[in-house]
Amino acid sequence: MKTWDVAASAHLAEGKALGFQLGSGDWPLKGFVVRHDGGCHAWVNSCPHAGHSLNYGPNDFMTPDGGYIRCLSHGAKFEPDTGACVAGPCPGQYLQRLECHEDSGIIRVRAPASARDL
Ligand code: FES
Repeated sequence: MKTWDVAASAHLAEGKALGFQLGSGDWPLKGFVVRHDGGCHAWVNSCPHAGHSLNYGPNDFMTPDGGYIRCLSHGAKFEPDTGACVAGPCPGQYLQRLECHEDSGIIRVRAPASARDL
């Protein structure tokens, strides 16, 4: 496990998300951070329904109103603070959380350098 600087706090607006990739090689860890009620939450970019990436565009993780995380493959919606699926094909399943905190204006995520080590 390692702590990574993934974004400047000022770049993550309420109801928005920023994607990131940690490590390199064949199995980089892909994730994203979300701003919700002023806090930040970090999630692995893998849908519990079928394991697809949730987004198509780089930071395209949220519903248009910013209220939920969405998976563009089959339309699952997730709570941004708990990761719980609340609509779509995987109700009751969860996104995988990564430890996240903010320090001196930087969003930091604690995670392995490879998706194989999750
Ligand atoms: S892979 Fe996400 S809803 Fe199917």
